[in-house]
Amino acid sequence: MLQNLRKLQLTESQRDGMRRAGEFNAQLMDYVRPFVKPGISTEEIDRLVHEYTIRNKHQPATLGYLGYTKSCCTSVNDVICHGIPDSYVLKEGDIVNVDITSIVDGWHGDQSETFLVGTVSDEARAVTQCAFDAMHRAIAALEPGCTVSVIGDNVVAEATERGFSVVREYVGHGLGKRFHQYPNIPHVPDRKSRQERLLPGMCFTVEPMINVGTRFTKLDTTDNWTVRTKDGKLSAQFEHTVLMREDGPEILTQCPAGPKRGHRF
Ligand code: MF3
Ligand code: CO
Ligand code: CO
Repeated sequence: MLQNLRKLQLTESQRDGMRRAGEFNAQLMDYVRPFVKPGISTEEIDRLVHEYTIRNKHQPATLGYLGYTKSCCTSVNDVICHGIPDSYVLKEGDIVNVDITSIVDGWHGDQSETFLVGTVSDEARAVTQCAFDAMHRAIAALEPGCTVSVIGDNVVAEATERGFSVVREYVGHGLGKRFHQYPNIPHVPDRKSRQERLLPGMCFTVEPMINVGTRFTKLDTTDNWTVRTKDGKLSAQFEHTVLMREDGPEILTQCPAGPKRGHRF
C-alpha cells in the first residue's frame, strides 16, 4: 500500500503544474461568482464556465467525462452532487453548488462552492456554513503522513455537533494528470482510510456533502447522474484541491475573491 501511495508523490515541477491548474480553476470560480443570482439558469452558468475555459485555451474536465455533456455540475437544494445544468432558473431562497474542474496543461484543478441565492432560510444558511466549516476543519487538521481518516473524523465531528449528516456514497479523490484517481477520500472514516496515508507530494480533494436530514441518497434514474437526498431535504457541499507538502497542506484552489476559512455566510 505504501508503495502505491509513493507513486503519487509529485516532484516540484509537477507540483507547479497542479498549482497552475488550481489557480486557473479558482480564477474561473471568481469569474462565475457574481453571476449566481436569482434569474440566471443553470445552463447559463454552464455556458459562462465553458466559454471562460475555452477562451483561456484550457479544457473543462467534465465535458465528455464518462458521457457527461456539460462543463460543470450545478446542484440545487436537495441535489447532493452531479446536478446537470439545464433550463432551471435560480430563484430567491435556493442554494446551488457549482462544481468546476479544469484541465490546464494536462493537470486537474477541482473545486466547488455552495452559493446562497438571494436571501435564504436559516436552515439553508446553516447547512451551507456547516459544509464550509467541515471542509476547512478537515484541511486544517492535515499533517504530512497523516491517515486519510483524519478528514472523515473532522467532517463527522463538525456535522454531528450541528445535527447534520454526512454523505458516504460519494467521496473525495486523488487527482493529478487524471481526474479521479487513487486514493479515495471518504468524509466518514472507513477501514481503508485508517490505513492509507497522505504523503508529501500527493494531491487530492476534500469535498464533504452535508445533509440537513438523512444521509441516504437516491440516483435519478432518468439521467443517471443527478444525486438527491432520499428525504428531499437540503444538502450543501464545498470542495478544494489540496497538495500535501513536507510542511503541511497547501490549498491549490483558493479564490482571491472567494470565502476563506472562518468566513460567515
Ligand atoms: N467535479 C466532481 C468531483 O468533485 C465530479 C463531476 S463528474 C461529472 O469529483 F461527470 F459529474 F461531471
Ligand atoms: Co472532486
Ligand atoms: Co468537483
